[in-house]
Amino acid sequence: MRAATLLLLSAITMTATAQTKVSSAPFGKLPSGEAVTEYTLSNPQLTVKLITFGARVTSILAPDKTGKSGEVVLGYDSLDSYLADTKTYFGAIVGRYGNRIAKGTFTLDGKQYHLPINNAPNTLHGGTTGFDRANWTARELPGGVEFTLVSHDGDQGFPGTLTVHVTYTLAGEALHIAYSATTDKDTVLNLTNHTYFNLSGSGDILHDSLTINAARYTPVDSGLIPTGQLAPVAGTPFDFQTPHVIGQRIDSANEQLKLAGGYDHNFVLNGPSGAIPHQAAKVTDPNSGRILTVRTTEPGVQFYAGNFLDGSFRGHGGMLYARRTGFCLETQHFPDSPNHPSFPTTELKPGQTFHSNTTFLFSTDKVLHN
Ligand code: BGC
Repeated sequence: MRAATLLLLSAITMTATAQTKVSSAPFGKLPSGEAVTEYTLSNPQLTVKLITFGARVTSILAPDKTGKSGEVVLGYDSLDSYLADTKTYFGAIVGRYGNRIAKGTFTLDGKQYHLPINNAPNTLHGGTTGFDRANWTARELPGGVEFTLVSHDGDQGFPGTLTVHVTYTLAGEALHIAYSATTDKDTVLNLTNHTYFNLSGSGDILHDSLTINAARYTPVDSGLIPTGQLAPVAGTPFDFQTPHVIGQRIDSANEQLKLAGGYDHNFVLNGPSGAIPHQAAKVTDPNSGRILTVRTTEPGVQFYAGNFLDGSFRGHGGMLYARRTGFCLETQHFPDSPNHPSFPTTELKPGQTFHSNTTFLFSTDKVLHN
């Protein structure tokens, strides 16, 4: 992109950010007595709530096609519920390594590392005490909040002290998430946000129409570990290159869908994974008219259709979250990359800074901004 265009884009973003109000309030205390804080970012279009526990998105209020604002993410009203739920990762920043690492083992610089097995026989989302369970420090920024976490050398078995910053900024209809990280020893990382969206506000997500900008995906084994193949989506239920209703093919007789109980797969995004986020996915909800567009600098996106939600979690306003009542579009590097040298690398070395950006853009089918 030309410098003039970039300058214009950043000027537009700054103007939009200036309209965002940021406030904070106590959200409860951890068993250790440590305080958890809730931040509210609001502007005329959206209201976003975040908490320091897991640097989570707990709520997004977005307008529907009639202009009425409503909840579009799954989450809880109390800290106790977040503490009790070790399964869903609602709204959290997951790390140090989001998604799975086969058998909780990888080799780096000739040394083998072992991680907790919390999704037998594999490690999921960084181990038993991943970044979703940490109480991040926070500071307000114009139009947003920066969360910081220092993960010590050996944390959950990973090498190196890793310092991570995650900044959420609200600008117009867009929630921007910027990640950066540095380390003092060679390590691996894969950071993503685990928000579950329900653009209707309730019910299942099967009627939503989805587009994913991916010609290939990474098929998995029975433990949801990639086989290493980058398989074409063409001619399969994984082809979302043009819009398809999520429920249309989710239960079809396809081995990959059977293994995962529905969609729970990493898609290999087309196009450059560079400094400028490009479109990864778009979801249109016919009930509300809401449209979610996801842009990222990451090479992949995990589309998870909430297959493992089982109605045992009671969230916002007492709502029970049953199977497939929320979907995640987790922008990320590919699962189990440390064991797949052919995948884009997830290694970070001292002296390097990891950067990654994702934007969730909300619009409606009445007026499409941007
Ligand atoms: C994974 C699912 C897992 C879920 C946990 C997703 O990122 O792909 O397999 O069940 O996280 O809530």
